[in-house]
Amino acid sequence: MGLPDMQGKGVGRLLFEEVTDKADGEGRRCYLESSGDVPNSRIYERLGFRMVKGIQGDNGGSVCKLYCLIRDLQGLPGNASNS
Ligand SMILES: CC(C)(COP(=O)(O)OP(=O)(O)OC[C@H]1O[C@@H](n2cnc3c(N)ncnc32)[C@H](O)[C@@H]1OP(=O)(O)O)[C@@H](O)C(=O)NCCC(=O)NCCS
Repeated sequence: MGLPDMQGKGVGRLLFEEVTDKADGEGRRCYLESSGDVPNSRIYERLGFRMVKGIQGDNGGSVCKLYCLIRDLQGLPGNASNS
């Protein structure tokens, strides 16, 4: 899937849904950290995640920005992300 020719064909959605369907069944939220903003955040938002925070990691020289996203539990009444 990391191969450029394989991206954007729906494989990522299928893999994500294996996990997110399980999470919904267990009543759990999902959390991920993305190392890229564009286009990654857009892709994860399409998959039901929302950006909560950007953080900067620094291991004493090299700095890395990480984007933290959460997917709320689906199927709960009153949860705006259910629509
Ligand atoms: C990120 C990645 C895992 C997504 O998997 P994928 O198979 O390409 O994604 P899909 O084809 O299933 O698309 C998922 C959704 O994102 C949307 N999408 C895909 N590529 C997009 C892009 N470049 N910009 C905006 N939206 C995009 C799709 O339309 C789809 O939404 P929809 O089903 O509602 O139409 C994959 O592209 C990848 O491995 N990329 C390279 C490595 C990488 O960036 N990894 C993540 C590091 S944080």
